[in-house]
Amino acid sequence: MTPPQARRPIVAANWKMNTGPADGSELARAVAAQDLPFAQVDVVLCPPSTGITSVAAAVRDSPIAIGAQHVYWETDGAFTGEISVPMLSGLAAYVIAGHSERRQLFGETDDDVRRKTLAILAGGLTPIVAVGESLDQRDAGQTLGVLRSQVTHVFELLTPEETAASVVAYEPVWAIGTGRNATPQQAQEAIGWIRDTVAEAQGSTTADQVRIQYGGSVSPENCEELLSREGVDGALVGGASLDAAKFATIVRAAAP
Ligand code: 13P
Repeated sequence: MTPPQARRPIVAANWKMNTGPADGSELARAVAAQDLPFAQVDVVLCPPSTGITSVAAAVRDSPIAIGAQHVYWETDGAFTGEISVPMLSGLAAYVIAGHSERRQLFGETDDDVRRKTLAILAGGLTPIVAVGESLDQRDAGQTLGVLRSQVTHVFELLTPEETAASVVAYEPVWAIGTGRNATPQQAQEAIGWIRDTVAEAQGSTTADQVRIQYGGSVSPENCEELLSREGVDGALVGGASLDAAKFATIVRAAAP
């Protein structure tokens, strides 16, 4: 039996609602100028929608990929304010779906996340599906159930190939932007639950292939111990990704 191929780590910068076209491309150039282990780690920058074009141009000559923070699942039409997957053609390779800020502040449901994920895959892009429990849910011992429900909702409808090509980001809501990261043990345990859930839906071979990141207050100080854990396949980074040197330190920590 051939051993499963090692999963390639992926570190993505979620700039959230920060940077416009000019300062975004400046930050992207600063990231590209860092010493990054591109041979071992996939590096993704997710600027706000208005910065996607300029940031994509700024990193055109580097292996850095671009991700969008949000899309709508329809391809075109009367949907004021939205962007679609085809509009990202030639610009982005990834799209974040199900970020807790979108779930909490903009009312995105598991059904919405599922529709978005299907549309992203249908358009040939890679979804980064974010899941995670709130503090109340963790304190009530509901973390496993919450993760199982969020993951199953998206992945039960995908083919094994689509699942294997997807990325999951485990982002406990209480760790996002709080400076309080999950402990390496908590991150590893939750990521293990997520992989087990994918295995139940799609089989263990597929679950061995899907990459699962950790996100939530990842910093240069804690990245080594988080990213060196078996099963943690990289990071989705918010605040620290707005600083090129800090982000580079995190990318380097993801290299095997
Ligand atoms: P912070 O790294 O700022 O906690 O944000 C994490 C996040 O939400 C990435 O998507």
